[in-house]
Amino acid sequence: MFPADRMRRRRSGEGIRRMLTETRLHPDDLVLPLFFDETIDSVRYTESMPGVPTHPLSDAEKVAERVSSSGVNAVILFGIPKHKDGIGSGADSADGVMQTAVKKIRSSSDLTVIADLCMCEYTDHGHCGILSGGDVDNDLTILRYGKIANSFADAGAHIVAPSGMMDGQVSAIREALDDNDRKDILIMAYSAKFCSSFYGPFRDIAHSAPFAGGRGSYQMNPANGREAISEIRMDIEEGADIVMVKPAMPYLDVIRQARNEFDVPIAAYQVSGEYAMIKAAAANGWLDERRTAMESLISIKRAGADVLISYFAEEIAKELRK
Ligand code: PBG
Repeated sequence: MFPADRMRRRRSGEGIRRMLTETRLHPDDLVLPLFFDETIDSVRYTESMPGVPTHPLSDAEKVAERVSSSGVNAVILFGIPKHKDGIGSGADSADGVMQTAVKKIRSSSDLTVIADLCMCEYTDHGHCGILSGGDVDNDLTILRYGKIANSFADAGAHIVAPSGMMDGQVSAIREALDDNDRKDILIMAYSAKFCSSFYGPFRDIAHSAPFAGGRGSYQMNPANGREAISEIRMDIEEGADIVMVKPAMPYLDVIRQARNEFDVPIAAYQVSGEYAMIKAAAANGWLDERRTAMESLISIKRAGADVLISYFAEEIAKELRK
């Protein structure tokens, strides 16, 4: 006989539905991206990222306090420097924007601090590394990444997160950190970072769009799922402590495959474009912002991510604590 209502019985009331919930978000899952710009004195907003402020360094302590009180326990920092040049020399300066932000946040909170490690915010051409002959030079760039990682470690970052997609970046950074006696610093590798149009609003915030050429010679082709698994495997072999898939929602299949294949913690970055789409639709009254944000993050966790990086982190953490 056809089992009438067998599935619907499990959805029959609020209490039953809650008991049978398979995936739950917790504030500890969440990481909030924070932007600091050393050229500004007061908060700046970016049209394409409603509700996401870029902070002056003088606000760092206040921001850390506010984020902590929301229940979020970890932040990933991005710095926008005064000075840009061909080799991104500002990226590893001891009193650079990232180093200063890290110090201020560490000294005023218990937040776990992740420092995004890339050069595109620091180079005048906007690419993620040092150019030679019109393309990014892999090996020169990863040497710079090692130096930058140590300057972030010296400032007090717990985790460095290389996002430039250079080959061998994880082993170069691990070696540089170990040589500096910083075996305690974790590497969260942007392992499967796709060459995505969903980064558009981020580039408005960070003024980091490349002036010529795209990032296709180092970021991954969105069509390639198997290659993503190879990238992740290599990063684990090179010593990554946490691997990342980015963006998140368009690549849930990659998150799931990685979860099935590997035992290391997996982070997923719900990027600026994913956030902006929900915000724009909500502003028009077309989507319910809170419910859509919650559903999007649950789907990313259900796919297999342990760490969720999201511009919604603060609101969601508050919601979860209600
Ligand atoms: C830097 C970096 C980018 C993002 C994170 N780190 C931009 C890019 O690769 O163009 C994007 C994050 C987002 O869109 O929210 N390499």
